[in-house]
Amino acid sequence: MCGIVAYIGSRQAYPIVIKGLKRLEYRGYDSAGVALVHDGEMNLYKTKGKVVDLENVVLGNDTNSHLGMGHTRWATHGEPNDENAHPHLSQSGNLAVIHNGIIENYATIKEALINRGHHFLSDTDTEVLIHLIEDIQDHEKISIDEAVRLALNQVVGAYAIVILVKNEPAKLIAARKGSPLVVGIGEEKGEYFMASDASPIVEYTKNVIYLNDGEIAIVKDGELSVKTIDNVTKTPFIQKLEINLEEIEKGGYPHFMIKEIYEQPKSILDSIRGRLDSTSGRFAMKSIHEYEDKLRNVKRLILIGCGTSWHAALVGEYLFEEFTRIPVEVEYASEFRYRNPVIYPDDLVIAISQSGETADTLAAIELAKEKGATVFGVCNVVGSSIPRMSHAGAYTHAGPEIGVASTKAFTAQVSVLTLLSLAVAQIRGTISKDRLHLLMAELENIPHLVERALKTNDKVMEIAQLFKDSKNFLYLGRGFNFPVALEGALKLKEISYIHAEGYPAAEMKHGPIALIDEEMPVVVIAPKRGIYEKVMSNIQEVKARKGKIIAIVTEGDEKIKEMADHYIEVPDCDEALSPLVTTIPLQLLSYHIAVLRGCNVDQPRNLAKSVTVE
Ligand code: G6P
Repeated sequence: MCGIVAYIGSRQAYPIVIKGLKRLEYRGYDSAGVALVHDGEMNLYKTKGKVVDLENVVLGNDTNSHLGMGHTRWATHGEPNDENAHPHLSQSGNLAVIHNGIIENYATIKEALINRGHHFLSDTDTEVLIHLIEDIQDHEKISIDEAVRLALNQVVGAYAIVILVKNEPAKLIAARKGSPLVVGIGEEKGEYFMASDASPIVEYTKNVIYLNDGEIAIVKDGELSVKTIDNVTKTPFIQKLEINLEEIEKGGYPHFMIKEIYEQPKSILDSIRGRLDSTSGRFAMKSIHEYEDKLRNVKRLILIGCGTSWHAALVGEYLFEEFTRIPVEVEYASEFRYRNPVIYPDDLVIAISQSGETADTLAAIELAKEKGATVFGVCNVVGSSIPRMSHAGAYTHAGPEIGVASTKAFTAQVSVLTLLSLAVAQIRGTISKDRLHLLMAELENIPHLVERALKTNDKVMEIAQLFKDSKNFLYLGRGFNFPVALEGALKLKEISYIHAEGYPAAEMKHGPIALIDEEMPVVVIAPKRGIYEKVMSNIQEVKARKGKIIAIVTEGDEKIKEMADHYIEVPDCDEALSPLVTTIPLQLLSYHIAVLRGCNVDQPRNLAKSVTVE
């Protein structure tokens, strides 16, 4: 949450910072600000609102600077307003900071600083940090670098910070603990970029360093150095970025979300490509082979995630139990970490995350590792914290996902979990050769089926038009499609602000049925394979109470088509793979309803894509 970007070099900093902030806006968008250093002056501009609002504030002012930084905020401490927007200044105004994360012990530090004569202009924890740094510098008569290091030793919490120093205009200081920070190394000497992720950097350089927790990066007189907060000098590891510019632009689509929905045939293909071969019956996944013994003997799987990733974990539960016969538990990372869970050294924890930075998932991994479990990460962002903390893992290769509501990351996660479950089943001998072969071949064909499911778009648009003003929605599914019902409801809530609930279809009669009347659209995910007859009964129960049925059915299923008020046909496939197909029209439905309601699809209110706070 919160996006940070900074630049030092021979180009104009302001356009680079603003463009970078627009790319990072998915991380938070309630207020924004920039600081630019020029001729020994520091110009600060900040405002409530989005980056475009910030541009209007800056308009006409002096933006000539080769050193600058900017921030787009998702409020934690202090409401979104001009004062609480970053950057924040130190007491003298010589230092400015931008921050992503939370300083947990800020209140105690603030009290001590107030007693020493400090005045604060905002309600944020961030302003306390920059005052603390200056206070230490003044008292100890030390360099700003050293003061930053000592201050970071006093704070508890998570941070990615960048600091500008007004009277040292050739210097940029950054540090991280728990929140991501990437340093880009420009092609010309002395040019550096710093950002929450690589998207603001990729058009200028492919050479980056991912800072590790507890590291401080300092650019001074054109040279970069890295040390730890314990004052140990580090040799930074330079990596090549794998993303390119087209992947992070809209490419002719009106929103990132719809672009990402349409990318799914490719993102699923990229996530499975080269990892299985149905003809030979072989899987090619390095981590599976390395951990073969562990996987053969593992007693229990614990799948953890948050939000949409948690829904992917639920699909994973059905997959792993069906194919591998290993008992599976699915946990919200946030609950798991705080409830003293029973974890054994022979458990395998699979941590699922698009961003690879979700604070609760990171903390849950730490806990699992402490208890001796093996951790396997299924993440999308290469080089992010979760893959680096995990013992092993598999990337999802969905490419950058920018729409805040997750779409292609979900289907990529489910694809990888399907692959993993089949590979583990093969190792453990819990699946017949024939069934394995069939499923592998069907998985290879899934990108084509998803392509066909996308052809429902026009029909979905018509349905969206009819139901765009509904106040509530119910989503029902069973078996493998129960998590799809949850995900469909979440998508609608997130971007259209319509109240929606997902339920296992049979549970409807234990509560939600009370809500059903002629005003209630009920989306039923009812592919032909699976618990089909029972779902038909559930449809009848809804109809008897005049609810409006929108059914997701297998192509050619005349029975449900007749019963439903509206239907959307998707191609047939094995029930275990059906979530990859049935989820497509639900994504489209939420997208079109949100657009028709005039909602900001890519940046829904109050949400952020990367949740780096608890
Ligand atoms: C936020 C996002 C969701 C995402 C969840 C977990 O809530 O808005 O789309 O599913 O975080 O994020 P992760 O990056 O761990 O998958």
